[in-house]
Amino acid sequence: MTINRQIIMKTRPEGMPKHENFEIIENKIPDIRHGEVLIKILWLSLDPYMRGRMSKAKSYAASLNEGDLIVGGAVGRVINSETSQYKEGDIVEGFTLGWQEYAIATPATIRKINPELAPIQTAVGVLGMPGMTAFFGLLHVGKPIPGDTVVVSAASGAVGQLVGQIAKIAGCHVVGIAGGQEKCDFLTNSLNFDAAIDYKNENVDDMLDKYCPNGVNVYFDNVGGSITDSVINKLANYARVAVCGVISQYNLTAPESGLRTHRSMLTNQATTEGFLVFQFAQKYHIAIERIAKWIKDGKITYKEDIVEGIENAPEAFIGLMKGKNFGKLLIKVSD
Ligand SMILES: NC(=O)c1ccc[n+]([C@@H]2O[C@H](COP(=O)([O-])OP(=O)(O)OC[C@H]3O[C@@H](n4cnc5c(N)ncnc54)[C@H](OP(=O)(O)O)[C@@H]3O)[C@@H](O)[C@H]2O)c1
Repeated sequence: MTINRQIIMKTRPEGMPKHENFEIIENKIPDIRHGEVLIKILWLSLDPYMRGRMSKAKSYAASLNEGDLIVGGAVGRVINSETSQYKEGDIVEGFTLGWQEYAIATPATIRKINPELAPIQTAVGVLGMPGMTAFFGLLHVGKPIPGDTVVVSAASGAVGQLVGQIAKIAGCHVVGIAGGQEKCDFLTNSLNFDAAIDYKNENVDDMLDKYCPNGVNVYFDNVGGSITDSVINKLANYARVAVCGVISQYNLTAPESGLRTHRSMLTNQATTEGFLVFQFAQKYHIAIERIAKWIKDGKITYKEDIVEGIENAPEAFIGLMKGKNFGKLLIKVSD
């Protein structure tokens, strides 16, 4: 009998998630029914939004209950199919396959991946949800114009690294904000960013003055909190703020008070717009084609942070919340 190792949310995290909030359990793989496929999971995608699933607060992803399988995106291989749409050997990606070694899914919840396009794990990275977020969030919400100064926070992460590179392709002056010298060096040396600010060791206000002397035209916000306060106070006239994520707030147990930023929004006639990537789902194919070509042409590169073994997913997820990941965080479950 093949055993399915699964990771459940044993208890709901309060504040920063801890090891005791997770448990690894073993279950028998259920038989598949007509219309279903059985998938052997190869890669798990660890994403900051998953912290929202672990909370009871309103979020765009449904909340987990204690004892539930951790739900998240994954890439796998079909090993049994009871539907004509998929056959054994197909590589698929699904947003809710979860932290387990085997998953049962219906065609409506998965999509087929072309392994010729790029390594299959990019289906949850640069050619998947984070890639779509960067592409549409920057181009449709941030609306960069050549010559604009674009600032992106969590800039070395899955979304941020792509935002900065696309902004460079769009002819912008790009400034990334990230934690630590190594990440900042990567942004300027390997990703062609014009400048990087190490928010853990530098004064963000001073560095924004230095690198954005004419103000910030587009701010792609991945973090919220005090970094965002600083950037909003440096906006240029008619600036656009694309609110993508607020990772600095996900583990707070009480609301944080900050600077008052509306004066800057008013006097600069700036626009702020929150967005969820799913609103662009009908156009994903355009972004996938475009990003794959940029990768092939050497115009875009991407950095992954790969952790081996499903049993290490909780530790890696806790690290993600503390900035330990360097690039798109993936768990390699199987070959
Ligand atoms: N709106 C949407 O549809 C959508 C879709 C996907 C992702 N998102 C959001 O986009 C953001 C980035 O996601 P991602 O997948 O690219 O994650 P990621 O950047 O690959 O990883 C998260 C990074 O956030 C930074 N971070 C963690 N805690 C922080 C804090 N307190 N203050 C500042 N930075 C902190 C860390 O980098 P440092 O070492 O630099 O601190 C960490 O590596 C997240 O907020 C996520 O929720 C939104």
